[in-house]
Amino acid sequence: MLIRHKRASDVLSSEITSHSTFLNRRELLRSAVATGVIAGMSPFMLSSSASAANQKLPNVKKTEWTEQALGENEALTPYKHVTSYNNFYEFGTGKGDPAKNAHMLKPKPWTVVVDGQVENPGRYDFDDLILGNELEERVYRFRCVEAWSMVIPWVGIPLAKIIKRLSPRSNARYVAFETLVDVEQMPGQRLMTLKWPYREGLRIDEAMHPLTLMAIGLYGESMPNQNGAPIRLVVPWKYGFKSIKSIVRISFTEEMPPTSWNMSAPQEYGFYSNVNPLVHHPRWSQAKERRLGGPTNIFGFTPKRPTLMFNGYEEEVASIYQGMDLTRNY
Ligand code: MTE
Repeated sequence: MLIRHKRASDVLSSEITSHSTFLNRRELLRSAVATGVIAGMSPFMLSSSASAANQKLPNVKKTEWTEQALGENEALTPYKHVTSYNNFYEFGTGKGDPAKNAHMLKPKPWTVVVDGQVENPGRYDFDDLILGNELEERVYRFRCVEAWSMVIPWVGIPLAKIIKRLSPRSNARYVAFETLVDVEQMPGQRLMTLKWPYREGLRIDEAMHPLTLMAIGLYGESMPNQNGAPIRLVVPWKYGFKSIKSIVRISFTEEMPPTSWNMSAPQEYGFYSNVNPLVHHPRWSQAKERRLGGPTNIFGFTPKRPTLMFNGYEEEVASIYQGMDLTRNY
């Protein structure tokens, strides 16, 4: 985000699926989604780089968000791109570092501490946190602040369902999240590229919004380590950095919590971080984005496309920001 990043425009053409392969895959994936096969479909069919540790997730329910994201003209981003072009600074700042180093993370057993302004605080085992909730597949557009984007079939549970069971007190206005700190498992934490732990936060109404997902997998399987195993946030109308990975703490607070990128560069990253093509990052435009693995032109290059307000989820989320100046609250 701030430093040493390969820009989307620097993605090698060899990293990008050819147009014909893309179209074939697109047909395969679209019909799989339409017939409901995708949750049971192994990413091994799509990529030889898939980890054998990935577990198929059972009883995953389809949702309307799949059609909302795919519409007429969209395709899923190939598994290979979703799992090999990542931001996860705990494993290094290069886009390929997480896929290379995240095998050091041990996502099982895993506990999440719940504290702050909440009736049911405690240390929850991963299974207990999600217990009793039906898993949903939700295909969401995902837009990184660095102007690359993907379309990803996540598997998870609406965060609202988890929050309701935890029962926040009436004075809880925000929800804060933290990632694991453990230099043995996360070698990137030996460097102070960010102040660890990685932190993120949402206003309580954002956290309770039906679109906000606690994801535990993608492409029908448990979450690959590099994508934030075993549990991460996905907030599709916000820049990707709000989607904190490998969560070990959920705190309910009265005050707006500190967030990693805002702490690191407040003039560049605000608390809200809503996708907004009209508000540019001080060092680059946010008006357009490049879809990883998207269709290529005659030069073998994926051209940029316009970025949509709230990443295309304006109808669903604009009302919760009514009356706010979104150029000041970026
Ligand atoms: N969570 C943690 N713990 N550490 C990180 O460095 N990077 C963020 C976000 N969550 C990050 C994180 C950023 S900048 C992005 S764009 C997304 O994760 C990338 O998610 P992906 O690698 O699954 O595409």
